[in-house]
Amino acid sequence: MPGIVIIGTQWGDEGKGKIVDLLARDAAMVVRFQGGNNAGHTIVRDGEEFKFHLIPSGILHPGKTCVIGNGVVVDPSVLIGELDGLRRRRVDVGGLRLSANAHLIMPYHVMLDTAGEAKLGKLEIGTTKRGIGPCYADKSARLGIRVQDLLDPKILRKKIAAALEPKQQLLRPFARDPKLDLHAMTEEYLSYGHRLEPHIADTSRLCWDALDSDQTVLFEGAQAAMLDLDHGTYPFVTSSNPIAGAACVGAGVGPTDIDEVWGVCKAYATRVGAGPFPSELTDEVGVHLRDRGHEFGTTTGRERRCGWLDLVALRYATRLNRLSTLAITKLDVLSGLDPLRVAVRYRGSEGAVFEEFPYHQSILHSAKPEYEDYPGWEGDISGCRSEADLPAEARDYLAAISDNVGVAVGVIGVGPGREQVISTGVRAG
Ligand code: IMP
Repeated sequence: MPGIVIIGTQWGDEGKGKIVDLLARDAAMVVRFQGGNNAGHTIVRDGEEFKFHLIPSGILHPGKTCVIGNGVVVDPSVLIGELDGLRRRRVDVGGLRLSANAHLIMPYHVMLDTAGEAKLGKLEIGTTKRGIGPCYADKSARLGIRVQDLLDPKILRKKIAAALEPKQQLLRPFARDPKLDLHAMTEEYLSYGHRLEPHIADTSRLCWDALDSDQTVLFEGAQAAMLDLDHGTYPFVTSSNPIAGAACVGAGVGPTDIDEVWGVCKAYATRVGAGPFPSELTDEVGVHLRDRGHEFGTTTGRERRCGWLDLVALRYATRLNRLSTLAITKLDVLSGLDPLRVAVRYRGSEGAVFEEFPYHQSILHSAKPEYEDYPGWEGDISGCRSEADLPAEARDYLAAISDNVGVAVGVIGVGPGREQVISTGVRAG
């Protein structure tokens, strides 16, 4: 003990990597439990930028065990590319462990993702086209290929053949793609197996051992609550469960192993891809947020949609995750905006008021946010290192968020750098 889960409370890109990086200082292990290389975490260390898609952000701390848990879907070529990139930059990757039970993203998953989006046309989800949805679909259909299969050539070939067969029709447009050749694919994946073998382990057991010997284990979420397959803005969601409860399933630990749940929330809101976003701003304030906040996707480079902070959605995420602590990131991006607005409720198209996040998709699609305004502040706050350094208006803004959702703020981000954080000292258990 303790186990600490860190999750996104919005639509992803909240800066979870930075908070994981901060909390990892006191942890023995960092575990990713869902998602795949649709995620992108950027960490700036001593002015040097690191981007991760699969490897847990904790890898930048020497001596930590970093786990890719069974709930993650792994594109082995991406993982090997990340390992090689880190090695080139002299980062020790010896502590990386990969669950033998994690599922593999195969070339046909990526093709199916692309083909599926094309077929949806205007109704497309705006996926990252990394094969995430089709890989999780195969996992549920029991046609998945797992990391452990890489170590057995006969089984690997058999399983790939079985998984490919039902997809022939759907994959017709790619029929001539050499990547779909059974023999070539098996050989390619066997070579990945050779590279990854030293990292493959029973990672649930590793978590057990660490928790049992009173070491701190961080469970690092990817994406965020509003993209949750069950609780998010379905179907405009990802294909895994990025909420805290999924940490147990995706890492192989029990619910009583979790002691704290940190929710990471940007001081405003962003979303990439399609789907409802009630507090979206299409005016110059939205552009200001995008430009000041560098709101372009780490994974796909897409422009992020920007808007005011949505407390209806944040209260919903607080409930789904039973947050113990909030980390508010990118507060510095709001400098110079006045007033600052936060959505506190929605009004439906027929005038009904929604204090709670509406469960019906049609309501959400047409819901208009109602705002409360707070005075903004001038000047650069990126050098602030304590709450007392912040302008009174910034402190009031944070207090309003915390009061509204009933969760204390533990960390405030005021810039991209590793050191650009304020710890409030609050550790609600
Ligand atoms: P998929 O996860 O690639 O299937 O994409 C499904 C939806 O989740 C799309 O709207 C993506 O833009 C979104 N999404 C997936 N991963 C992330 C992420 O790490 N940050 C933000 N949005 C994401």
